[in-house]
Amino acid sequence: MTAVGIDAVEIWTGKLKLDLAETFAPEMGDDPAKYTKGLGLEGSSFPDAYEDIVTMGANAAHRLMERKDLDPDDVGRIDVATESAFDNSKPVSTYIAGCLEQVYEGDFHHANKGERKFACIAGTQSIDDAYNWIKAGRNRGRGAIVVASDTALYARGDAGEATQGAGAVAMWITENPSLVELSTEQGYGSADETDFLKPNQQFPSVDGKRSVQVYLSRMREALEDFESVAGETHPDDYEYIPFHTPFPGMVRKAAVLGYRHMIRGTDAEEALTDRIGPQPRRDDFDSREAFDDAIRDYMDDLKETEEYREWYGETIEPTLSISSQVGNWYTGSVHIARMSALRAAAEAGDDLTGDKLLVGSYGSGAQAEIHEETIVDGWEEEALATNIDEQIERRYDISFDEYEQVHDRHNHDKRTELEPFTQPDGEFVFDGWGPMNERKYTFV
Ligand code: HMG
Repeated sequence: MTAVGIDAVEIWTGKLKLDLAETFAPEMGDDPAKYTKGLGLEGSSFPDAYEDIVTMGANAAHRLMERKDLDPDDVGRIDVATESAFDNSKPVSTYIAGCLEQVYEGDFHHANKGERKFACIAGTQSIDDAYNWIKAGRNRGRGAIVVASDTALYARGDAGEATQGAGAVAMWITENPSLVELSTEQGYGSADETDFLKPNQQFPSVDGKRSVQVYLSRMREALEDFESVAGETHPDDYEYIPFHTPFPGMVRKAAVLGYRHMIRGTDAEEALTDRIGPQPRRDDFDSREAFDDAIRDYMDDLKETEEYREWYGETIEPTLSISSQVGNWYTGSVHIARMSALRAAAEAGDDLTGDKLLVGSYGSGAQAEIHEETIVDGWEEEALATNIDEQIERRYDISFDEYEQVHDRHNHDKRTELEPFTQPDGEFVFDGWGPMNERKYTFV
């Protein structure tokens, strides 16, 4: 059977940085530790005045095509996952293809283009579409570019304002990939929820606290569904477990639930029993409340065990490093979690070929999906090829006043003019509106 998966990844961060502890917390009257320790976030990325989902996506895709030496004829699909689109008809992928055609000979007229929407999970769904297209043998030897691009802005004053972010991830999906091969097996947890939605509005309506619970419930369902087809999972089976990361604190909650689920009935649970007791079982409790309390107590104890802490430090923590610097990138978020971990391993010189990842994607509204990935030969070179650390370092650190201007600039209802803080160089920039209210782009 042909292996299909992610061959290469490029990441593009918005060029501005809001320091949450130094700049945002004091203005909110908050203890900086709420951000750095509670949410697990140091900073958020924002787009400069000339950046948006198209420029960030096109710049990431351009880097990908240059690095992999691709020309338009190699590309059979361009799919964009976003929940920040500005057009209900014309997909962002057409704008991105238009940008790329400015810098390549030839065109993408032969390429199927689309836009996927299901909150943050749409990036993973677009990879699925590409996988299915290749597996079905419809690709004629070509690969698919999947771009996940978002400006994750919340209304000023919303609790979600602390978790904003902006950036794009471009992925090249092919046969015989050089980074990870995707499993056929998948698990889903999907339900009609109203935890976070944007009914024809730019900034989300969010029930923040409930969204956390919905994330955990759907993720648990997805894991159970995955196990029903792939067999029981065990924490030691996976080198890393990248999750959708709206903020690292969310992943902290998901990880301990996942660990509890995976060790249930195994030697690992047995080994902890003399210290924290056996896991509470529903049948042993008269009421749901009493059972829930017992579970909470068990998890509080579990989190403090050496076994859990070591597993978390090795399997989860490395997935969070980029997110903690850039915030929530919605559709791109789980894909930067994967790259955070693989880059750290490549830098440490680890040998992971043949090892597995368990990947947990989530989108509000709501759906979780879990699948497995096998790390393949060539992964180190691919993981180290992106220059995301340099990009993060180079961001312009905005003051609170500047943050307010930047938020207004990207508010679709305001169309505020703003002098850029950085100088574009060899990249696509937003260039104003055309006669049909279309957005225009140039390569500078
Ligand atoms: P909040 O009310 O501002 O924060 O909202 P909080 O008071 O809950 O504090 C956050 C954490 O910091 C808590 O940790 C506090 O204890 C801790 P926890 O108890 O939960 O572990 N904390 C401190 N820690 C140390 N020192 C201190 C301190 N103070 C507090 N001094 C909330 C937080 C997440 C609700 C808010 O940011 C929000 O609404 N965010 C947007 C929604 C969101 O991100 N939801 C996540 C799940 S849904 C999802 O992932 C989908 C999404 O990506 C969208 C999509 O799919 O398209 C959002």
